Amino acid sequence: DADRTFVMVKPDGVQRGLIGDIVSRFEDRGLKLVAGKFMQIDDALAREHYAEHVDKPFFDDLADFITSGPVFAMVWEGQDAVAQVRTMMGETDPADSAPGTIRGDFGLDLGRNVIHGSDTEEGSAEREIGLFFDDEELLDYERID
Ligand code: CMP
Repeated sequence: DADRTFVMVKPDGVQRGLIGDIVSRFEDRGLKLVAGKFMQIDDALAREHYAEHVDKPFFDDLADFITSGPVFAMVWEGQDAVAQVRTMMGETDPADSAPGTIRGDFGLDLGRNVIHGSDTEEGSAEREIGLFFDDEELLDYERID
């Protein structure tokens, strides 16, 4: 089934010039970009986005990192987009990620893992899309393969 997922290139990925490569991978796979925004996350948005992690010992580091520079936020649509993007990203820890995945190709550091994609839990993608984008920012067009 076609679904939508929230994806962002994190500050480390932006600083290392990886936006283009990452966007290309999703385009080449056949997913459709429906929204994109180059933006700075503030503290309030970081807390909301990572609400499930507020009690974790690494939360302050995570919030500092994700607000440390611009991110490139996106919404991608396509068949099983949430799960497909998860597969293409690799594991949360880049050190455990297979070559060929985004994290497996671009890093080794758990805290600076280049990219975020919504998890497959029911409602996660919708929640994150709603946090970062207004409805009118999600654009409708035909993708030709
Ligand atoms: P992400 O999938 O964006 O969602 C939560 C993030 O927390 C995760 O990527 C990691 O970057 C980060 N994270 C998870 N575990 C740790 C940890 N033990 N130390 C630091 N950061 C972590």
